Amino acid sequence: MQMTDIIAKKRDGEELSTEEIAYMIKGYTKGDIPDYQMSAMCMAILLRGMSDRETLDMTMSMTTSGENLDLSPIEGIKVDKHSTGGVGDKTSLVLCPMVSACGLKVAKMSGRGLGHTGGTIDKLESFPGFNTNISEEKFFENVNKIGISIMGQTADLVPADKKIYALRDVTGTVPSIPLIVSSIMSKKLASGSDVIVLDVKCGSGAFMKTKSQAKELARGLTRIGRLAGRKCAAVITDMDQPLGYAVGNALEVKEAISVLRGQQKGDLLELCLTLGTCMLTEAGFAETKDEARKMLRKTIKDGSALKKLAQMVEAQGGDARAVYDTSLLPEAKYKLPVYSTESGYVRGIQAEQVGLVSMHLGGGRATKDSVIDLAVGLVLDKKIGDHVDEGELLGTIHANDEKKAKEAVELLRRCYRFSSENHARTPFIKGII
Ligand code: URA
Repeated sequence: MQMTDIIAKKRDGEELSTEEIAYMIKGYTKGDIPDYQMSAMCMAILLRGMSDRETLDMTMSMTTSGENLDLSPIEGIKVDKHSTGGVGDKTSLVLCPMVSACGLKVAKMSGRGLGHTGGTIDKLESFPGFNTNISEEKFFENVNKIGISIMGQTADLVPADKKIYALRDVTGTVPSIPLIVSSIMSKKLASGSDVIVLDVKCGSGAFMKTKSQAKELARGLTRIGRLAGRKCAAVITDMDQPLGYAVGNALEVKEAISVLRGQQKGDLLELCLTLGTCMLTEAGFAETKDEARKMLRKTIKDGSALKKLAQMVEAQGGDARAVYDTSLLPEAKYKLPVYSTESGYVRGIQAEQVGLVSMHLGGGRATKDSVIDLAVGLVLDKKIGDHVDEGELLGTIHANDEKKAKEAVELLRRCYRFSSENHARTPFIKGII
């Protein structure tokens, strides 16, 4: 078999065989196939597409390119969740304790943030002492004992994706549905859960800018998940503004805790109820959506979800007192208010730009090796549809560097768009597949 022939075949729009796909993924992971050939292949796939059979073969070859997590030592139904990446996305910190309090097992591997979107692992490290680098044995033990554990992705989880994603990033081949599907689903399948729920973000702050692109991706992800034998659902959600109010690691943890305490309603809670409903019904824990929602709401009302978070923090060496007293979480030195220079209704908040404001303050990573400041970020006061008078508070910058804080005030102000009328809002949940 020759890689040049396989590239030419895809370039001409033909379907690749299972053997050709396995040869290409194995060869590239081992270093036998050079970057320039794999780059050409990624571009051919982007331009010509792949059938479901090819995408499944590619996903399975990638899944088996490294170590797979065998979750069989954990009793019960294991659930996992993936988000295609958004700004202010602290969903896992709320959703995972909620579904765990309902009896599902959460054995989740998460990543760190890169660029303008954050990662769950960084957020969890806001709890003093929290260890995301635990052994597999400890991970299993914690899930069996308390029903929930979240650890960092192991180095050998889908090495093929690490190489291919890095290549796509610099060759203009990220926005290809079969390449995105195989990248995401290979990691989810290798992580071993029975039920996988996907949050596909759609809008200015997301990868998929339009609803039809997001729908196509959601369909692709769920099709491959089901073909691989897992229970799978996807929810398409709005990312035309940040999720919730806080952006920045410790600030997002504080917001997640206030949702778990029942002190905050709105888009973040709605998203967790929707994703949680998919998990409970797919797992057979609830017959109907209504029943699932009731179960989830109860975990907030009776404090059991908050308790799950505290138990997880404690089991992973963190200071669980911070769950009940958030003043123990990292706090920034400077807090600068951002006042509006206009009056009107908030029409839009450029999510990607808001993420970049947090990055400017040191809350995000420019490169894989950047060190982040867990305390910094921003908290919005106004969201789409809110009325604002000139001079009214739009949000607050949390910073440890005074000069950057002042720059961030102007940057955040520029993220807002106003209109004299309050236009009808597009729904936050745009579809469930
Ligand atoms: N997230 C991934 O993990 N892979 C992609 O290709 C895109 C988003």
